[in-house]
Amino acid sequence: MDAALKHSAAEGGQEIRFTLNGQAVTVSVDPLDRLSDALRYALGRSGTKVGCNAGDCGACTVLVDGEQICACLMACGQVEGRQVTTVEGLIGDPDGERLQRAFLDHGAAQCGICTPGMLMAATSLLKRAAAPTKQEVQDALGGVLCRCTGYQKIVEAVCAAAEAPSADTPPTDPDVGCAVGARFAKTDGLAKVTGAELYGADTAPEGALWLRVVRAPHARASFTLGDLDAVVAKTPGLERILTAADIPGSKAFGVYPHIKDQPVLAEGLVRYRGEAVLALVGSRAAVWSLAEEDLPIAWDPEEAVTDFCAEGQPLVQEGRADNVLARGFVNKGAAEAALAASALTSEISTATPFIEHAYIEPEAGYAERKGDTLEVWVTTQAPYMDRDETAAILGLDKEKVRIIPSACGGGFGGKLDLSLHPLVGLAAWLTERPVRCEYTRPESMASSTKRHASRVTARAGCDADGKLTALVFDGDFDTGAYASWGPTVADRVPVHCSGPYKVPNVLARSVGRFTNAPPAGAFRGFGVPQSALAHEALLDDLAEQLGMDPLEFRYANVLRVGDATATGQVLTASAGLADCLEALRPTWKDWRAAAEAFNGADGRRRRGAGIGCVWYGCGNTSMSNPSTMSVALNREGRLTLYNGAVDIGQGSNTIMAQIAADALGLPVQEMRVVMGDTALTADAGKTSASRQTFISGKAAELAGRDLRAQILRLANAGEDARLVLTDGKLSVRDGGEVRRIDLAALPEDARGDVLCGSGTFDPPTSPLDENGQGDPYATYGFAAQIAEVEVDLDLGTVKVLRMAAAHDVGRAVNPTLVEGQIHGGIAQGLGLALMEEYLPGRTENLHDYLIPTFGDMPEIECILVEDPEPLGPYGAKGVGEHSLIATAPAIFGGVYQATGARLTRTPATPDRVRAALREAQVV
Ligand code: FES
Ligand code: FES
Repeated sequence: MDAALKHSAAEGGQEIRFTLNGQAVTVSVDPLDRLSDALRYALGRSGTKVGCNAGDCGACTVLVDGEQICACLMACGQVEGRQVTTVEGLIGDPDGERLQRAFLDHGAAQCGICTPGMLMAATSLLKRAAAPTKQEVQDALGGVLCRCTGYQKIVEAVCAAAEAPSADTPPTDPDVGCAVGARFAKTDGLAKVTGAELYGADTAPEGALWLRVVRAPHARASFTLGDLDAVVAKTPGLERILTAADIPGSKAFGVYPHIKDQPVLAEGLVRYRGEAVLALVGSRAAVWSLAEEDLPIAWDPEEAVTDFCAEGQPLVQEGRADNVLARGFVNKGAAEAALAASALTSEISTATPFIEHAYIEPEAGYAERKGDTLEVWVTTQAPYMDRDETAAILGLDKEKVRIIPSACGGGFGGKLDLSLHPLVGLAAWLTERPVRCEYTRPESMASSTKRHASRVTARAGCDADGKLTALVFDGDFDTGAYASWGPTVADRVPVHCSGPYKVPNVLARSVGRFTNAPPAGAFRGFGVPQSALAHEALLDDLAEQLGMDPLEFRYANVLRVGDATATGQVLTASAGLADCLEALRPTWKDWRAAAEAFNGADGRRRRGAGIGCVWYGCGNTSMSNPSTMSVALNREGRLTLYNGAVDIGQGSNTIMAQIAADALGLPVQEMRVVMGDTALTADAGKTSASRQTFISGKAAELAGRDLRAQILRLANAGEDARLVLTDGKLSVRDGGEVRRIDLAALPEDARGDVLCGSGTFDPPTSPLDENGQGDPYATYGFAAQIAEVEVDLDLGTVKVLRMAAAHDVGRAVNPTLVEGQIHGGIAQGLGLALMEEYLPGRTENLHDYLIPTFGDMPEIECILVEDPEPLGPYGAKGVGEHSLIATAPAIFGGVYQATGARLTRTPATPDRVRAALREAQVV
């Protein structure tokens, strides 16, 4: 039992007795306390997760007398005398363990935060249905949300667990030297399926204080603070209230060295609803005992700036003329003239709203002062950036701050920015006691970054033979109140907005403007999903004008090796989009023909198939973004990968181990992974921009090769020698000879290792000139996706029936994990297309903000195309963001074939679909 969590339980209360995982337990709590709190805090069973505390996410699903319930909605008093089963109770139960094994083998757990809830719902199902159908699985697990997997592998895992073990169980133990390319189960998967994995909220030191952030209720307001000391004095258990005046170092932060514009705690002025104003520090009961009106904050609200395209708005930040944060620009050839001379042209305007990451794990963690250093345990995607920023805010040398990433329950870009880190850090530093914090779901959604809202206008042309001639693109992006990753979006969009096509003349402009909304930051694609809606619609329209099939029109125009991109970069390798289209062509023809046949028979429901293509540069845009990894052996023969790349569910812990193991020549099963701890690992950069497989993976390969070379030198062995690690003893077999390496005789380094190989990789890029010309990325991933949809003309609903996705990933280091990325990206792309819209103050929970559920997801066929990238590890490149970008265009293309209505605004809710149908005179 976790002593720290036990310690945090409310003292006193009423004794409640029940059976937990077969054992009688007694807790002393308020009978009205949530069962989830009792399990986590009074009983230390942190395997039961909390994503919303409102019955919306299902992460807290447990069994009470065999029936699945949300533990956050059940009062603890209701389980008196009853049987409660949590994920920890599956251990030792053959059925439960078979289910856990199936989740591992099928890659059904990505970040794993939903996994305990999924497993419990599945357990309940399998108790009453020995061989459930896929539909029955979807129905039974339908109350649990997953933001990572797209659900397909979860359904497959549950169905597999219901069957007898079969011969086609995915292999999990590849031979030495063959880890790359194997469907290896996640190295950290076991902890995720047993509930042992510790996320940000799952642990804290004994005696930790709690911190609660008080946030702005207005989007734009000035404020004054009254006597806060008086509040502390009259509130038992409240230790102190932190304000901006308590911050010893930088009072603002930001991801760029030259833009530190977001206050840690606001000073007299707030620029968005949800901005941090005060931090209450004390016992859990004390910090939550205060209502907002108990705090002496005098607000003076002003009219908020909400329209990022309107002229003459008040300034959101002083000194930012026209509220402009950043602009991007690419100019190649003479686009306007080429458009005027084109045989055919097309024009489109699109609009997208803010979109919420909706990771199931809200922000959480703790900080602890240890002498003159600060340790921060936190859910994050960017430990080294966190370290540097937190140190600057506290006025400490960065070496005095250690970030220890917890398991990350989903990020998607939203955990690249600081959240609670500086606040718990400051509180721990000042009080000299550990301090923990857990954001509530509404707080997480109100305060965290969003996908930029956008408005795009674009024009494209082609010649009479169907060759693209020109594109002119203008994109406006709402960057919210603070910069966050806005400049990155402004830079990425013009580079990518002509799509994965050979366009000889491109004029592209982007601008990010401030409004009084939550900061828009990084979210899987950095503006490219928004711009892809426009370029794919233009391609569809030009193809139709020409009388060409949409896939064939794309095939005639896709970038191939030897072609120049919009920035003038000539692709020299690994451009496999044509292969992707060839792979999809037979299915595409079938679906298009099937849709036509269906539409001939049924008047009120129509079907169509659409296509979307994507390219996406792996890594930061035109700047150095190195990664360093190391692999080491200690005297006992323990092999450790020191991996600074945070695994946010995508599986980087696993694939880094696979790559390093093969490069070294030892079994991947021997590899222990230390992830992201800034005191133990080197800086591998942030987990974003689809860079970890390509960049950190290459660093892991180099590290493995370096360690191998050291071992071979010690053994005086040749390149082809075989390493053997048995019972902690390392030997080298070279031809007929076996040479033993005496690890115990070697000197230890600071980490206790005796041999350490390291590798650093920084992909070659070049700056963009004043016309946006240059080589912004070392490599690009490519993909094409097709969607079959059904539109109900009366209801305006769009149902995605099937999808097929062909992705050129260079090399699939772990095909199961690559498929998982594709499934999950498609789920988020489907959400973007059809249901997701973040409205400050209105959709700040998982009830009003809709994300795809089991029932929304179609069956997805993945086709992995491997056109090797010479710079990548074993030919691999990224896939994380590519998987989302093509989905919405494919769905909208399907709606067009089905109805003739061109959708231009997301989400395509039924009212908007009906409006488009009316405009197209379909209804
Ligand atoms: S935490 Fe209980 S349903 Fe979300
Ligand atoms: S694996 Fe389901 S939410 Fe991450």
